[in-house]
Amino acid sequence: MNRRNFIRNSMATAGSSLLTKPLLANRGLAVPETAPLPGVASSQQVPGAVPESQIASARFPEGFLWGTATAAYQVEGAWREDGKGESIWDRFTHTVGKVKGGTTGDVACDQYHLYPQDLALAKRLNQKSYRFSISWPRIQPSGTGAPNMKGIDHYSRVVDAMLENGLRPFCTIYHWDLPQALEDRGGWPNRDLASYYADYAGILAKHLGDRIMVWAPFNMPWSFTYMGYGVGAFPPCRTNFGDFLKAAHTVTLAQAEALRSIKAASSKATVGSAYGMCPAYPATDSEADRAAAARYHAMNNVFFLEAAMKGRYPKAFVGEPPYELMGFKPGDEKIMLAPLDWVGFHYYTRRIVSDASKVQAFNGGGFSGTEIEADPATGRDPYTRFRAVMPSEGPLTESGLEVWPHGMYDLVTRISREYDHPIIEITESGCGYLDAPYDKENGRVPDARRIEFFREELAELARAISDGARVRSFHAWSLLDNFEWANGQTERYGLIYVDYRDQKRTIKDSGLWYGRVAAANRLDV
Ligand code: BGC
Ligand code: BGC
Repeated sequence: MNRRNFIRNSMATAGSSLLTKPLLANRGLAVPETAPLPGVASSQQVPGAVPESQIASARFPEGFLWGTATAAYQVEGAWREDGKGESIWDRFTHTVGKVKGGTTGDVACDQYHLYPQDLALAKRLNQKSYRFSISWPRIQPSGTGAPNMKGIDHYSRVVDAMLENGLRPFCTIYHWDLPQALEDRGGWPNRDLASYYADYAGILAKHLGDRIMVWAPFNMPWSFTYMGYGVGAFPPCRTNFGDFLKAAHTVTLAQAEALRSIKAASSKATVGSAYGMCPAYPATDSEADRAAAARYHAMNNVFFLEAAMKGRYPKAFVGEPPYELMGFKPGDEKIMLAPLDWVGFHYYTRRIVSDASKVQAFNGGGFSGTEIEADPATGRDPYTRFRAVMPSEGPLTESGLEVWPHGMYDLVTRISREYDHPIIEITESGCGYLDAPYDKENGRVPDARRIEFFREELAELARAISDGARVRSFHAWSLLDNFEWANGQTERYGLIYVDYRDQKRTIKDSGLWYGRVAAANRLDV
């Protein structure tokens, strides 16, 4: 029985206890006396599972920064308070038919008002780092010009509250909520946005850089450019591969110009990244598939990293990069170069990649809400010519991503190798499961599958560290359930459950567990 069927069966038989008794005992979790004994199943039978002995012996370095991550639009709400301008996500969610269930981020978790409570909860879970993002349209409602001081003052109070709770403020400057006014001026394909963005970043560093020392310019730049301009799943919903390439190049320039403007405004600043990455495995051992997997890695994982570190684009394309289509100008290689102080990336799941050179029709990739490119009819595009699919050998989370802990090890060690052992921050990882407060458990949220997810992949992270990777932090996505973009409130990634009817927070069992891990620096807690 594979882990997916196994979990499905145990859900059917075990009620609140999602894992079976032998497995729970096997993994050192509390075993409810009443749990039914299911058919024999052990971790060894679960494809991709990490051995219990490895989990038990995993250790993290002293001072390791345990953290959580959130993003402004997903948690703040208060969408037009204190002078905030409209963002492309406001426009998108206010358009009928765009978001599952028709919800918006107008209120979300109301963290704009409830941040003191949420940061106190993070402290209660022994957290040391809090990765959050700033909403550009709160700072510059129309994307350019003098800052809106109400917006600055808000984040200044939030940062103070982090410090009071012993949390390192880790600021993501842009987590997808572009001021709509800048989209109206052409959006990211418009090269002018690079300097507007650098101004915005400089404003943040000037006003908050006395307390924030860790800055990541962009969350998942490949995703928001590709989804927004290439395949239209995210705002501004364009479906033009050329626009995607132009947007990506503007973002590369913006990242570098921002690094310089941040450092000019704040001498304490360090700048890194928050890239989304999926380790890519070739579908077969053929040369064509191996080359395709290399292009995937170059395009989806290290495109912006290579640009910053080396002032060039990696080999993401068959042949030369389509420079003209990208809007690349002579001298851009010098502008792009802006070596990062540390490298931050997310790991959620992996890809199997095959060559799509022989595919005739290219209409852009498919998209299923989780950045899965798996359109078998059309392949991807005439330039990168690979097809990437998420395998389902391991179990899938309820949000549809394959659980493959080993990918964490492969990705971290590969980036370490390829970029000369940089300091690494894991900026996000997590899993979507819908577990809710359960009355038979006195309102607890027994989300055993989330605990299992983190135990296994953190054991793989510990193995990468013991093999020499210089990882200094891990941020679970997310501190609390939040607005999951086009999937609205239909997915839950939090360590804390949010009841959207009254904003009540309930720490899930995974949150309590993660709090113990953070205190002990080990996983067998
Ligand atoms: C394994 C990895 C390995 C990769 C090689 C994957 O299926 O999990 O450990 O590095 O294949 O292609
Ligand atoms: C994004 C988050 C998102 C999470 C779960 C991450 O890659 O940065 O904004 O909520 O994935 O889908």
